[in-house]
Formats: sequence, structure tokens, C-alpha cells
Amino acid sequence: MSTLVVVGTQWGDEGKGKIVDLLASKADIVVRFQGGNNAGHTLVVGGEKVICHLIPSGILNEGKKCIIGNGLVLDLEVLIEEMEDLKKRGVDITPERLSISEKAHIIMPYHKAIDLAREKAKGRGKIGTTGRGIGPCYEDKAARVGIRMADLLEPDTLREKLDSNLREKNFYLKELFGEDPFDLEDIFSRYEKFGKILRPYIKEIGLELESAIVDGKKVLFEGAQGTHLDVDHGTYPYVTSSNPVASTAATGTGIGPNRLDSIMGVVKAYTTRVGSGPFPTELTDEIGDYIQKRGAEFGATTGRRRRCGWLDMVMVKDSIRLNGLTCLSITKLDVLSGLKRVKICVGYECDGERITHRPANLKRLSRCSPIYEEFEGWEEDISDIKRSQDLPSEVKRYLKRIEEISGVPISIISLGPIREQSIILKDPF
Ligand code: GDP
Ligand code: IMO
Ligand code: MG
Repeated sequence: MSTLVVVGTQWGDEGKGKIVDLLASKADIVVRFQGGNNAGHTLVVGGEKVICHLIPSGILNEGKKCIIGNGLVLDLEVLIEEMEDLKKRGVDITPERLSISEKAHIIMPYHKAIDLAREKAKGRGKIGTTGRGIGPCYEDKAARVGIRMADLLEPDTLREKLDSNLREKNFYLKELFGEDPFDLEDIFSRYEKFGKILRPYIKEIGLELESAIVDGKKVLFEGAQGTHLDVDHGTYPYVTSSNPVASTAATGTGIGPNRLDSIMGVVKAYTTRVGSGPFPTELTDEIGDYIQKRGAEFGATTGRRRRCGWLDMVMVKDSIRLNGLTCLSITKLDVLSGLKRVKICVGYECDGERITHRPANLKRLSRCSPIYEEFEGWEEDISDIKRSQDLPSEVKRYLKRIEEISGVPISIISLGPIREQSIILKDPF
């Protein structure tokens, strides 16, 4: 197998960055295919912590090529800052190593302003977005008025598109939300400069990827967010504005779906969610607090406290179908150490009926209560165990049950944030 897609199976923050960093040593190319800097992927390597928002999490593996696909929306200030930060750490960020699709869309300052103004206006009913302008940028893409990386390289086109966009956006921001309008020349001059900096990196990446795959190179596709934040399949409207499911690895990079071989789902050993929206297994008691503290569950992008709850296999099973998962990575098992009992949700009780998939209707979902299986917990600190046979029997039982319910084999067990705190059971490539 030469290609592997890694996706989140829950509401994001499953530990995808750690897993991608770990697997990048086996790959030749690492590619992001959707989302933007709403993502925060944490890598802990050589005693240093790096958070990747836009650059693929393979970047700390020397010599591996990294590609930013057409499916992303890019905040250029954040991208350039991330590139500079990595360069300062001695990481090679040259156009030979990093490519950016000419078709990726650009998040403009008005996208962020609209995102924030809408959330403010919604008050308690807000989505709880990251405020990074993700939704408004994808809206413009679908409305066919978006500005793409290729446009940055043609100042006339950039000015023309900005001018026509600003007429609408300024009216909308001023009249509906009472916000300040943006100045065309100000944005134009800043973005023209960004274009000059980024020009050598902007390429047609689909052709590059296709020929690499044909040559037998190993390509690792890095998903952002999680399946249940998917704009089609997630807990709509409490979702992001892209499709984090595995099939987007094809549309988001410019290759065919027949090129996707293995698909790995990253499953956190419990569930977390940032922002608003339904969460059937949420724990608002001291166990939730315990998991939140032990797991250091704060958003890697916004610093918000993540809501925590038991592992929900109803969600994971939906993710298996929606992504076509061929293997799983189970992360953050170490966080559950010290709990007397641990639970796995295996179905929902809803209007007197037992169901095993999540209803799309949020009112119906709010009437669902989780059906749990309970297990003995474990006391031991397991974070430095290197062989699966050395795991406590209770952990083995928990993992076996996840595998039984999902019907998909576990390839990797992650027991801590550091690259080395991982047990690879089977090479997923
Ligand atoms: P991502 O968005 O899916 O890449 O995940 P985040 O980086 O946002 O959040 C995962 C957090 O858990 C990060 O702080 C990681 O360093 C950390 N982490 C990843 N895997 C493990 C693990 O197995 N155990 C523990 N304790 N922490 C982990
Ligand atoms: P990674 O890749 C967790 C959530 C936001 C909000 C909703 C919509 O690190 O797993 P948006 O700004 O995308 O319009 O916000 O989606 N969200 C994430 N939650 N991890 C992420 O990314 C997320 N990206 C977006 O909190 O609820
Ligand atoms: Mg994250």
C-alpha cells in the first residue's frame, strides 16, 4: 500500500498530529487536504512542543515533502508566521520541501470579521467557532467569488476581485452588524506582499502527487477536525464548513479516489468537544473534570477548555462507515489511569427505542441517552509501556472491546504526547 489517509473519528483533537508525525517517518510526502487554521495539531518531539495549524504535521521529519492541498482555506498571515517560526527552529522550509496548491482559497480579513460578528450576534445560540473566518471563506468558495492562491500572483486580478468582494462585505458588515468597513488599498498592498513571499511555493500539486504515487512513493494524507464536525455528516449546524471525511483527501488534493489505499481513524480513548453542540456522553461531574485535567484538554488553537465525556462507539461506528476505515489508532489511553470504572457507550435509548446510529434531528438527539458497558479501571501509569503485552489486563480488555465493537483492527496505541510514547502493532501503510 502506498497511500494512507489519517482522519479524526470524533469532534477533532483526537491526537491526529501526533499520529501523523509518528507515521511521517515511513512516508515520503505528507499532505493536508481540508480545513484551515481552525486546526491545531500538537507535536512533541525532542523535548519541544510545536503546534501546526496549516503546515502538515510531517514537517519535523527531515527530508519529507509537505503539501498544502487545494481543499484548504489559508490565512496567509498565520501561514507565513508558522513558516518563520519553523525556520527559526532550524526546520527546512524551502519551496523544494513545501508546496502550496494554487487552488487553495485565501481567508481575507473580512472573513474573520464576519465570523466574529455573526457569533457575537448569535449570543447564546452561537456555534462556538474558532473565529478564524473558516465558514465565510468556504461560503465564498461555493459562491464562486473566493480569492485563490493563483490570484495572488496576478496583482490586477487580486485588486479586481477584492474590489468586488469588498463592495458586498463592507455593506454587510456595516449595515447588519455595525462593524467598521475594510479599505481596498490597505488589504491589496498587504496581500500583494504576501504573494511575493509565497510565490515560489505556489504550485499545481495534483500533478506532483499523482506522479509521486505512480512512482510508488508513500503519501500520508492528514485530515483536520473530525468526522462529526463534517458539514454533511456531523452534528449540523454545530459543525465546521468543510468535509473532514477521508474521501476529501482526493478532492482536496487533485487525485482520484482510487489512489487512496488505507484509511486510519484516530480515536481518543474518551470523547471531547470544543464549542457548542450536542454531546450525549458528556460528563459534567468530577470524572469529566478528572479527564479534562489529566488529558490537559484545552484547545490547541483557541485555548478553550474542551468538554469531556466517555468514549461513544455510536459515533466511532458512524465514522467507520463514513470514512471506510481500515485501521484505528487509539490515543490518550494513559489519561484514563486512576479511574475505578470506565464506560463505553454502545447505543442510544431514544423515545423508548434502542438505536445504534446518531439521528440527524438535533431535537431527537437531545432526547437520546447513552447505553453504557462498564469496565474495571486501572490504577497504573501506563505512559511508558513499550509492548502491548505489558499493558494491564484491564487496558487490554478495554481495547479488545473497542476492536470487537468496531470490527476494525487497532494499528497504533498512543500512551502519551511524546512521539516515543506509542506502540505500533501493525504498519498501517
Ligand atoms: P489533533 O488536533 O487531533 O492533532 O489533536 P490536538 O493536538 O489538538 O490535541 C491532542 C492533545 O493530546 C495534544 O496536546 C497532544 O500533545 C496530546 N496527546 C496526543 N496523544 C496523546 C496521548 O496518547 N496521551 C496523552 N496524554 N496526550 C496525547
Ligand atoms: P483539529 O484539526 C476541534 C470546531 C470549533 C467549532 C466548530 C466550527 O485540531 O482537530 P470553525 O472555526 O471551524 O467554523 O468552528 O468546529 N473545530 C474544532 N474542534 N478540533 C478542531 O481541529 C476544530 N476545528 C474546528 O470549535 O465548534
Ligand atoms: Mg487540535
